[in-house]
Amino acid sequence: MDTKDIAPGLEKIFKDAGDFLPLNGTDYVEFYVGNAKQSAHFYKTAFGFQSLAYAGLETGLKDRVSYVLQQDKIRLVLTTALTSDSPIGEHVKKHGDGVKVIALWVDDATKSFEETTSRGAKPFMEPIREEDENGYVIRSGIYTYGETVHMFVERKNYNGDFLPGFKKWESDYKPTAIGLKFVDHMVGNVGWNQMNTWVKWYEDVMGFVNFLSFDDKQIHTEYSALMSKVMSNGNGRIKFPINEPAKGNKRSQIEEYIDFYEGSGVQHLALATDDIIKTVRELRERGIEFLPPPPQAYYDEIPARLGTHREAMKEDIQQLQKLSILVDADEDGYLLQIFTKPLEDRPTLFFEIIQRMGAKGFGAGNFKALFESIEREQSLRGTL
Ligand code: FE2
Repeated sequence: MDTKDIAPGLEKIFKDAGDFLPLNGTDYVEFYVGNAKQSAHFYKTAFGFQSLAYAGLETGLKDRVSYVLQQDKIRLVLTTALTSDSPIGEHVKKHGDGVKVIALWVDDATKSFEETTSRGAKPFMEPIREEDENGYVIRSGIYTYGETVHMFVERKNYNGDFLPGFKKWESDYKPTAIGLKFVDHMVGNVGWNQMNTWVKWYEDVMGFVNFLSFDDKQIHTEYSALMSKVMSNGNGRIKFPINEPAKGNKRSQIEEYIDFYEGSGVQHLALATDDIIKTVRELRERGIEFLPPPPQAYYDEIPARLGTHREAMKEDIQQLQKLSILVDADEDGYLLQIFTKPLEDRPTLFFEIIQRMGAKGFGAGNFKALFESIEREQSLRGTL
């Protein structure tokens, strides 16, 4: 993984304390969906993912089917139940399409399970060894917020395409990739007053540290507010911001998410690109809808917001505005980002596309413009 260390200061803290849960990166993200075959087509066509592996009736499974897609270091697994009595089907019935598993790549899945469950994690899956002609993988899993799960994947003794039990998925349909590189961060929405509970859980159970916080004084609009704390592991490769709703005059987007997802869950995946203009132009051509642009004043203020990084910025502001790309800066550099509309029928999960040009933050300077844009969408849905 070549993800930049986002919080270099953290390295020393973990070295001194001993990181009991070393993580190499994100291994895969699994969605439970209503129709995996069609979802796979959507993520290939619109987001440029490539076919990687498949498991289903043809590979001996009776109860479910999974399609695995890849783009650079990002792997998505789309899974659907084949029977009415499946917990996968129950998950979809309750939450709609959404993220079930955030899988983390580790060197020792057994130790990861022991370290976390001994610190209070609720087990999802005891360590199991799965093997085929390409070697073996050990996986284990624990629950995090809501019904979401962290799987630990130990694959150092495996050289197959994905996991034992999956066959290579050969497809003649290969839409071109759009430059998505790796998962930059994944955000969880939790219910009222639960943020600090989960912050403490990530500290105690996973050994993460809280390296950025935003309160409702910083993140608010005329109508709504939210609180957010960003949790990071020791090498900075895994970053999980956790949001909770805060009181406002109207229903906040976090509350809308919790209502429609019927509980806590993953709000968005931020996917990194090296060329956001090219990536977003391509996504728009392929029919992906983004949040509507902020007003002209937002773009007029960009040079001031960039401050000393103005000189370093290569992108043309007019071009960014044409594509509704947002810009923010911190002391280390600037970043470019944009948010899709929800990717399924319920107003729940969406994607962020992000290009970091040195900046290590999460676009706090854009929050207000972003939330006002979301509120205009909420208003159209009658859920503000
Ligand atoms: Fe984000």
